[in-house]
Amino acid sequence: MSTAWKPDTWRAKPIQQVPAYPDAGELAAVEARLATYPPLVFAGEARKLKKQLATVAAGEAFLLQGGDCAESFAEHGADNIRDFFRVFLQMAVVLTYAAAQPVVKVGRIAGQFAKPRSKPTEVIDGIELPAYRGDIVNGTEFTAESRIPDPQRQEMAYRQSAATLNLLRAFAQGGYANLDNVHTWMLGFVKGSPQASRYAQIAERITESLAFMRACGVDPETAPALRSTDFYTSHEALLLGYEQALTRVDSTSGDWYATSGHMIWIGDRTRQPDHAHVEFARGVKNPIGLKCGPSLQPDELLRLIDILNPENEAGRLTLIARFGADKVYEHLPQLIRAVEREGRKVVWSCDPMHGNTITLNAYKTRPFDRILREVEAFFAVHRAEGTHAGGIHIEMTGRDVTECTGGATAISAENLSDRYHTHCDPRLNADQALELAFLVAENLKAERDHRGMPVRLAVAGE
Ligand code: PEP
Ligand code: CO
Repeated sequence: MSTAWKPDTWRAKPIQQVPAYPDAGELAAVEARLATYPPLVFAGEARKLKKQLATVAAGEAFLLQGGDCAESFAEHGADNIRDFFRVFLQMAVVLTYAAAQPVVKVGRIAGQFAKPRSKPTEVIDGIELPAYRGDIVNGTEFTAESRIPDPQRQEMAYRQSAATLNLLRAFAQGGYANLDNVHTWMLGFVKGSPQASRYAQIAERITESLAFMRACGVDPETAPALRSTDFYTSHEALLLGYEQALTRVDSTSGDWYATSGHMIWIGDRTRQPDHAHVEFARGVKNPIGLKCGPSLQPDELLRLIDILNPENEAGRLTLIARFGADKVYEHLPQLIRAVEREGRKVVWSCDPMHGNTITLNAYKTRPFDRILREVEAFFAVHRAEGTHAGGIHIEMTGRDVTECTGGATAISAENLSDRYHTHCDPRLNADQALELAFLVAENLKAERDHRGMPVRLAVAGE
């Protein structure tokens, strides 16, 4: 691989998942305009996130990453963003308490508009049309016109990202994220859950800790850290023309940064080491995620790590394991061992969504128990290997949708049609997302109890 990198060197490489824009001139004009717009995020913020992720890599913090599978233009309302943020913060509080560590908060939001597809076309009733590739490319409606890739959508995505980020910054810094608020919301959830007794213990301990801190004079009025939070954005860097247009030189360091979001990731379908997506990502200094699915072999992973993080900088690379509940034991240990053998500093995160999708009553869904099983297997393998289960990466919404089956409110296959709103993959609803946080909390607590103990416990199933 050549070492000369520029924001456009990916264009000379083979590439997957490219939309067929009918008018190359119009596409180039939009990209040229985007290149003149202000950055959405700043290099200094991406560097701060990288530092925080370095603490995750060192086993001293936990990463919570989540949001929509795909953001949509039609559902761009303040309520959606607020509801997501509320649930996300509640999850973070539960995890912070359980891990007794900081939780690094990264949304799949304010830029998550492009979707990789397993097939380039979709057939319904014998009619074949180009697949929907996310609102930044084309429309969901099953008509020939809507499915034509439209470059103007990139400007819409940019503007929506800017507005979303603006609101998130206000929520995160303006007092809404105040720990007392989050705590009150969380108690409301616990009270209403059929699993209330299971969560009561952690919830009560958090309540007691806050009361103790308040008695000591530490509360949101006196401690800025309790009234605001750092919140970062991320998305899959799939549409490289858009990413290139938003890639800028940081005047402080002279380095290139993707300014479309704080963290970007490479999808499981586009991680070929000699292809365009890896080429693009290797040159920007942001924290990078890499999806690791069942086809990834240890030697290929090491090659990708060499390309993406040649200086072995902690916090630069997050490996997002997404094997499917039944395949974790088969694939994850060998990847962890290769990384450990070579002394590579990475964050290990678990995406329990993308390997657990099934079809029920013609709906794409994910059974909650499989999602849980993948998370539990991920933690068990890390405990056995003596490595840090560093984070989770989930698709979720703050709304009461019925897209994943199961959970405490037991959504059935028949319930799926009630409120199935996703434009892409099925998401955890607010209750399921929080429930998952409580269950991850139990695993984090177990990891904490084992910290400092000689490891290599038996892996279940080994
Ligand atoms: C995603 O995160 O939405 C996605 C498509 O994941 P993967 O690349 O792991 O399939
Ligand atoms: Co998805």
